[in-house]
Amino acid sequence: MTILLLSAAVPHATTDLARHRAVHGALPAIGRRDADALIAAVDAAGLRGRGGAGFPTARKLAAVAGARKPVVVVNGTEGEPASSKDRLLLGRQPHLVLDGAVTAARAVGAAEIVLVAPAVTHAALARAVDDRTARDEPDVRLVAAAEGYVAGEETAVLAHVEGRPAVPRLAPPRPAERGLFGRPTLVQNVETLAHLGLIARYGPEWFRGAGTPERPGTTLVSVSGAVARRGVHEVPVGLPVDEVLRLAGGPSEPTRALLVGGYFGAWVDGAARPALTDRDLRPHGASVGAGVVIALGATACPVRTVARLASWMSGQSAGQCGSCVNGLAAIAGVLVRLADGDGTPDDLGLLTRWIAMVDSRGACAHPTGTVRMIASAAALFADELEDHAHHGRCATCAAAPIDARERVAA
Ligand SMILES: Cc1cc2nc3c(=O)[nH]c(=O)nc-3n(C[C@H](O)[C@H](O)[C@H](O)COP(=O)(O)O)c2cc1C
Ligand code: SF4
Repeated sequence: MTILLLSAAVPHATTDLARHRAVHGALPAIGRRDADALIAAVDAAGLRGRGGAGFPTARKLAAVAGARKPVVVVNGTEGEPASSKDRLLLGRQPHLVLDGAVTAARAVGAAEIVLVAPAVTHAALARAVDDRTARDEPDVRLVAAAEGYVAGEETAVLAHVEGRPAVPRLAPPRPAERGLFGRPTLVQNVETLAHLGLIARYGPEWFRGAGTPERPGTTLVSVSGAVARRGVHEVPVGLPVDEVLRLAGGPSEPTRALLVGGYFGAWVDGAARPALTDRDLRPHGASVGAGVVIALGATACPVRTVARLASWMSGQSAGQCGSCVNGLAAIAGVLVRLADGDGTPDDLGLLTRWIAMVDSRGACAHPTGTVRMIASAAALFADELEDHAHHGRCATCAAAPIDARERVAA
């Protein structure tokens, strides 16, 4: 199967519709009566969302299809700092994303699309939208995405489009029932929609030509950390992680660990060689998520790294739920103390207890996702944490030059 999201046939950004169609062909017409068949095709393709949770797209389409005055929202917020795939896709393949959004709108019977994307992408997107003059296409409205990790959560996106602060609200009701201005709303990630734009053309069997039965297709992976070249790559789901690192020019130093799935993901031992698929990653507590792989080099102290991530994530709390605001701050505080050599062995017990107390709390997945990442670090870096708790530093810190060991605490 030729890989087509970032196809070599489209080497540069193409906001030009004619050029886009020369590569991909026209988007097949989908009438009201074809909508069920289209949703069945998406179901047969096994497309799962690429925004993080991996929810089956056909089920989301079916939940909104036929509802009164539905609307489609394209989520291009990309609040995950280690991810840049959605921005890349919006810049390089805006028409493919729009094809997917139009396809989704036709499947659910929506006459309106709201495209939420970073302001820097708007000039190119506006040109692409202007280029599409087909009278039967839904209207597309561009909205500049809000900043921050939780701003990409779907109910936060909807609040932002409505002109309110971009913070999550307690669900249910889910957006499919009561979304944008109370209307049934389909929220899909940018990459999910780009895949949909291709499935509408080439069908489910083509899509299943790559990936695994559980998670078919290709996926965009943002690779960063201790690699030769950070960047975004399109890979078939199930590619061994080693191969993913090779695409990034290989590790720049021995790999101590990999954070797979982003800041909501899990730490995987650098010696493990899982394939990038949920089945292989599950035993490590990880999932493909939004396709993020961060390599931690052997010269970086894992305790300091996790303390920095935890502090940042704690600062991203939307400040609405006690367990999130206070729990994440307390956990980050313990990690920073340990990282800076100010901790005690009692801190290890506090860390375990507080992780359990915060897990599954809060109105959105922010605290749960964050403590899942921290719990995986606590398990994988148990020796380093013990060393920090008992001796104020680990072997990696001892080997690092003094000026590379600035305190984590501000
Ligand atoms: C804290 C938090 C942040 C999120 N950030 C994003 C984001 O930046 N982009 C995104 O597409 N989905 C994000 N999501 C997931 C969305 O809520 C939603 O599930 C997704 O946009 C649906 O698209 P999909 O089914 O195509 O993946 C986030 C979820 C949570 C809990
Ligand atoms: S859990 Fe945290 S991020 Fe989510 S809504 Fe509550 S305070 Fe905001």
